[in-house]
Amino acid sequence: MDKGLRITVDGPAGAGKSTAAKAIAKRLGYLYIDTGAMYRALTLKAVHQSVDLSDEEALDRLAAGTDVRLARPTRPGGPYRVILDGEDVTEAIRSPQVNAAVSQVARVPGVRAGMVDRQREMAGDGRVVMDGRDTGTNVLPDAEIKFYLTASFDTRVDRRYQEQRRRGFEVDREAVARDIAQRDEIDSHRAVSPLRKAPGAIEVDSTALTIDQMVEEMLEICRRAADDQGPASGAR
Ligand code: DC
Repeated sequence: MDKGLRITVDGPAGAGKSTAAKAIAKRLGYLYIDTGAMYRALTLKAVHQSVDLSDEEALDRLAAGTDVRLARPTRPGGPYRVILDGEDVTEAIRSPQVNAAVSQVARVPGVRAGMVDRQREMAGDGRVVMDGRDTGTNVLPDAEIKFYLTASFDTRVDRRYQEQRRRGFEVDREAVARDIAQRDEIDSHRAVSPLRKAPGAIEVDSTALTIDQMVEEMLEICRRAADDQGPASGAR
């Protein structure tokens, strides 16, 4: 039986991954898996417990004793919930403190190994859209469709700046730019599963595209792939 498509969306912070991945999942009726949210949840716990972020063993131990889950929305169209040790942390993981620390936590090999196992388990039989940094290169290298989303640095900074303000955080644009530059640097140069365009990935530059244009362009690519897959993929 056809299991439907597995779609991965990778790229740097602010490229529009989560907006695109969520919209595509909704249109196709697929499960959306935000892998960054899992690293963010663990980071929130590390920050709360004042764990030394340069202490890899401490972060390994913390990850081993932590339960991170992604829960489907409780109401139609509502947000996916992020549950950390039974507590809903959906909003808290988007804070500037977590933004500033998450790349340091996500570069630890033991932390990544546990998260990647969970992510593959969640992807199960397909019909998923997964977004992150290594979903096409490492988590689901056999995915039927892989996207690599980019945008200019200024565009990415503007988007994150607006997003943070909408969420009610007091931030200045310079600080957001520094944070994104630092995360780009760490995410792209870490030893394990650095941010890379996966072999066979389709690159979409969202700098000059509206959200609707970006989503339509990506959905068209999914539809074409679905035609090759047969009717059960649902991407039409
Ligand atoms: O997509 P995001 O901004 O929520 O991701 C937060 C951080 O988590 C990102 O800076 C790097 C890390 N991350 C990762 O290393 N691997 C993933 N698959 C997803 C995110």
